[in-house]
Amino acid sequence: MAELCSGAEPPLLQVQRLSRRFAVARRKGAQLHAVDDVSFDIGSGESLGLVGESGCGKSTLVRLLARLLDVSEGRIVFRGQDLAALPASRFARLPQRALIQMVFQDAGDSLNPRFTARDTIAEPCRLLAGMDRAAADARVDEVAAQVGLPPELLSRFAHQLSGGQKARVGIARALAPRPQLLILDEPTAALDVSVQAVVLQLLDRLRRELGLTLLFVSHDLNVVRLLTDRVAVMYLGKIVEMGRSRQVFEQPAHPYTRALLSAIPGHGPRIRLDGEIASPIDPPPQVCRFASRCADVHDRCWREMPTLHGGPARQTESHEAACHVALWANSKVV
Ligand SMILES: Nc1ncnc2c1ncn2[C@@H]1O[C@H](COP(=O)(O)OP(=O)(O)O)[C@@H](O)[C@H]1O
Ligand SMILES: [Mg+2]
Repeated sequence: MAELCSGAEPPLLQVQRLSRRFAVARRKGAQLHAVDDVSFDIGSGESLGLVGESGCGKSTLVRLLARLLDVSEGRIVFRGQDLAALPASRFARLPQRALIQMVFQDAGDSLNPRFTARDTIAEPCRLLAGMDRAAADARVDEVAAQVGLPPELLSRFAHQLSGGQKARVGIARALAPRPQLLILDEPTAALDVSVQAVVLQLLDRLRRELGLTLLFVSHDLNVVRLLTDRVAVMYLGKIVEMGRSRQVFEQPAHPYTRALLSAIPGHGPRIRLDGEIASPIDPPPQVCRFASRCADVHDRCWREMPTLHGGPARQTESHEAACHVALWANSKVV
């Protein structure tokens, strides 16, 4: 991360101590900590992966960034402006709205059933990017070609398209207003495995050809590995590890990341996580969220919440983990 921040150009997006809590039904005063004190940057042209088990707060975090949700605390500095300070309803009317676009998990559900593919892709061009009908139409043809949607499919409605075609419409719609940041929230999770692979290859090609800045969310580490320069691992609302994707994959420092990686065939013996998952409702602020499932848990983990820090060796400069017992490459005999 250091090398990204040292140049003249500041990061495109700076997320600073971002939190979002939800009130809990029928428990007066109780709060669910969905995103808890999260900080990271994304440089222009960079691709960041966000991984973690279902329920760890990935969707809440990206919905905060796309300003579909209001924040509880923290800053979302996009091109130098703090977007978190604006209520979600006001953000919807700002020009920045076009610059951060999101592709949702279930392309089928997020497409309007009464719109043709062409109308679906044209809508943000007209509403967000201010194009007239002719310009929007030309833009639809251009992005449809980029995502490999044949022109004859553009007059179809969502129910007349296959899963893979709907995914392409969702991606084309997000790309159409020329966003500077594209957020993909598990874009292939609802697809068959073979279609998933094709859509991931498409995203990888688009990323390289268009120089996109991506935030790619997935519970599947293998998927993230293909598409990202850096990766952030989340556990119960917190980022527990962050670094260059290769480094995190080859030398995971946090016990949780090691367990996640061990589920991938060829990544050594499977580490099963025993123990109960801590509750996200009013969690004790001093206790590591992973302590109840951690095989390496230490007394200190029950007394002092670990914060993200690098390892002692210079090689791990851009690699950080929030763990008192992190296993840093080159710093410990394994
Ligand atoms: N609108 C909401 N109201 C209350 N709780 C929510 C809401 N949205 C998400 N949550 C809770 O926040 C936590 C994180 O959810 P989510 O961000 O969807 O995780 P992920 O995308 O990683 O599966 C979960 O415990 C979920 O139940
Ligand atoms: Mg989600």
